[in-house]
Amino acid sequence: CRKLGSKKERTLAMIKPDAVAKMGAIIEMILSSDLTITKMKMVALTRKEAVDFYVEHQTKTFFNDLINFMISGPVIAMEILGDESVCAWRKLLGPTNSSTARSESPNSIRAKFGTDGTKNAAHGSDSVASAARELEFFFPTSGGRGPPNTAKYTDC
Ligand code: PPS
Repeated sequence: CRKLGSKKERTLAMIKPDAVAKMGAIIEMILSSDLTITKMKMVALTRKEAVDFYVEHQTKTFFNDLINFMISGPVIAMEILGDESVCAWRKLLGPTNSSTARSESPNSIRAKFGTDGTKNAAHGSDSVASAARELEFFFPTSGGRGPPNTAKYTDC
């Protein structure tokens, strides 16, 4: 990431299955930063959805491990708003591998809440263009992942 500027951006953050139980502490870290959570939902991804989300990595040797991990439990997707949020969120995340994160960035989310190169606690879009695609994946502006939520609260 380059030096943070003051351009307001939206990015997609996702708490992965290994860290959903620690979501409270992760959300506290986000709220203590200059970032704002503007949307959030818990989703159990199907295999097809996980493959679609990570399609750019489909030729990588780790692809099957990644997909199996991502469907091993629910994930929490968040829209994050803030100055240079793509970069700011990835800084908060730390290096991809949690073991590396513990030595290079010990206060980062992946250092504190992840385990290794597979179980690494959370995801962040790697560019503004990826963020637009990934936000549309989880929070479609029209159509997309299932019908809009029109459920109404009723007395019970
Ligand atoms: S690459 O090859 O540089 O593009 O890959 P990288 O950016 O390091 O990682 C891309 C995403 O794949 C995940 N990853 C893995 N998952 C499971 N097992 C292994 N071994 C593994 N290596 C990398 C990594 O966490 C990245 O996921 P996201 O959700 O984007 O953080």
